[in-house]
Amino acid sequence: MNTFDKTVQLISTEIDQIDWSKEPRGLYEPIGYVLSLGGKRIRPVLTLMACNLFSDDVQVAVNTAIGLEIFHNFTLLHDDIMDRADVRRGRLTVHKKWNDNTAILSGDVMQITSYKFIAKTPSQYLKPVLDLFSQTAAEICEGQQYDVDFENRELVKAEEYLEMIRLKTAVLLGCALKTGAWIGGAGEEDAQLLYDFGINIGLAFQLKDDLLDVYGDEKTFGKKIGGDILCNKKTYLLIHALELAKGDDVTELQNWLLNSDENLSEQKIKAVTSVFDRLGVKTICEDKMQFFYSKAIAKLDKVAVLENKKQELRKLAEKLMFRND
Ligand code: IPE
Ligand code: IPE
Ligand code: MG
Ligand code: MG
Ligand code: MG
Repeated sequence: MNTFDKTVQLISTEIDQIDWSKEPRGLYEPIGYVLSLGGKRIRPVLTLMACNLFSDDVQVAVNTAIGLEIFHNFTLLHDDIMDRADVRRGRLTVHKKWNDNTAILSGDVMQITSYKFIAKTPSQYLKPVLDLFSQTAAEICEGQQYDVDFENRELVKAEEYLEMIRLKTAVLLGCALKTGAWIGGAGEEDAQLLYDFGINIGLAFQLKDDLLDVYGDEKTFGKKIGGDILCNKKTYLLIHALELAKGDDVTELQNWLLNSDENLSEQKIKAVTSVFDRLGVKTICEDKMQFFYSKAIAKLDKVAVLENKKQELRKLAEKLMFRND
């Protein structure tokens, strides 16, 4: 079994070798920029690790894995415009360093490039991989649309939030695992168990991302703390705060939700975080994260390969729960 570190190294080396020095520079330079900033690379790593459960050769899944990582990075370019985010991976976002048009068009060509890599999937698996990938890509758009719709909706139920994050985040992790499993030669039952493992890890992963957006350290997280609060994102934290708040806390939350004065950004982040702290919603979010993590592990337990082969995926899942980045 390849370790996590070895797998990240393998995929990063492959990604670093892609030549973005083409013309026009305005289109390709931002792609080289965002990919050079790294990130955790968890999606391609999941593909290769899932493949490795069933095959000693992971090279067969490398192009598919690269395609998924390029696709993920494309979603970040557009997401950062939508979320008005200035910083990612500790550096300026593409729309800030260049402009919105650049982030839109470089993002578009990244999406096309991701298909070009996925099209290199070994031919016997190409049709199902392409079908799942296209379905996943459309689901991510659906999730992103709910995410922005919810910014302007007063009441969002916890179930609606969970479905939104399943779409915007979890399905890509599921897709990464399932495609890797297929390419490694897994049977349908194991491939589906790995998909379900990915969905549950993905739900926990997004809950953790929302937590870090409030309680993380900007240096390690690489994104501006409080971005979700400024956008009125209906995160699990905010949904529960709105549900639990009484008296002055209700007025305070409602007033801040109506306030988009950029000069008061820091005060808004501070005030809303204080309400979260008073109401104990951090623990509610952590408990839900733990719930999905346990569900994920239960799926992985059922995958019919020797226990020692699953160790690296187990370690990775745990690492993602305790991450600071
Ligand atoms: C960011 O994904 C978008 C979410 C789904 C939360 P990652 O946290 O995997 O970002 P990178 O690729 O490591 O930067
Ligand atoms: C991102 O969710 C999901 C996608 C990019 C599809 P977020 O908006 O929470 O991701 P970050 O926090 O900007 O990375
Ligand atoms: Mg977003
Ligand atoms: Mg965002
Ligand atoms: Mg986030």
